Amino acid sequence: MTSNSAQAEWWNAAGQGWANAQDIVGLMLRPFQDVLVDAAARRPRTSVLDVGCGTGAVTRAIAEATGAACVGVDIAESMLEAARAHGKAEYVRADAQVHTFDRSFDLVVSRFGVMFFDDPTAAFANLRRAATGELCFITWRGRDENPFMTTASEVAATLAPDAPAPDPNGPGPHAFADPGHTRSVLADAGWTGIDVQPVDRTCTIPENLLAMYLSNLGPISRALAAVPEEDRPGMLAGVRSAFDGFVHGDEVRVPAACWQVTASAPL
Ligand SMILES: C[S@@+](CC[C@H](N)C(=O)[O-])C[C@H]1O[C@@H](n2cnc3c(N)ncnc32)[C@H](O)[C@@H]1O
Repeated sequence: MTSNSAQAEWWNAAGQGWANAQDIVGLMLRPFQDVLVDAAARRPRTSVLDVGCGTGAVTRAIAEATGAACVGVDIAESMLEAARAHGKAEYVRADAQVHTFDRSFDLVVSRFGVMFFDDPTAAFANLRRAATGELCFITWRGRDENPFMTTASEVAATLAPDAPAPDPNGPGPHAFADPGHTRSVLADAGWTGIDVQPVDRTCTIPENLLAMYLSNLGPISRALAAVPEEDRPGMLAGVRSAFDGFVHGDEVRVPAACWQVTASAPL
């Protein structure tokens, strides 16, 4: 088995839903795109790498804001097909943990794309070898601080009670919830000047997009994918009320508790 093969398989399957719902993802996660664009635009950049770029919203926003040559790397071709359709950047299908990049980057960024490595220290050491400047990524804090994700996981468990529970210490959205662990991984990987700051935002989408969000993204979409297509609308309608607390009039508001992690590659 090669590195991250399970994640590659998982994300290639999930990528179709992300591509279908890329506009909704763009809206929902826009506040964190803005954080990374601001960080990128703080000084002149010539080359930027976006790790786990998905459908490329952050990659192209940074390309537009900075004029730098931007490269998005992702392990899932289904994500990159959607990214390439927008142009504005170059996209590479590769496992960022082991890929030998053909150039160096003065900024390496990621929005929620670096938590899925099976060997995080090796992955961040590989990214450091590709970097001549800074690292800046956004990652989730714990489940207890992110109630929308927790609700989605709990609902999915009722829809697919036999599905194996995810390993809380393995690759996954909360892999860097503990800043002490993050600092130690980055230091072992050779990064310096490591800083971990909380960043809290309210993410919003129109209420009429909630069903599409849930059926294309995250654990509920996985649970639905395992049942016959004709059963899915009824199952989704049956769990919709679990999200009532996030609906305010015609808007869904998701409080998102994250870390902004920055570091430097030593010269
Ligand atoms: C939560 S999505 C985030 C996508 C995108 N950054 C965004 O914010 O819309 C995580 C992404 O990381 C990618 N990914 C996971 N493991 C990877 C690896 N080892 N190398 C490169 N990309 C990876 C997945 O394919 C997926 O596109």
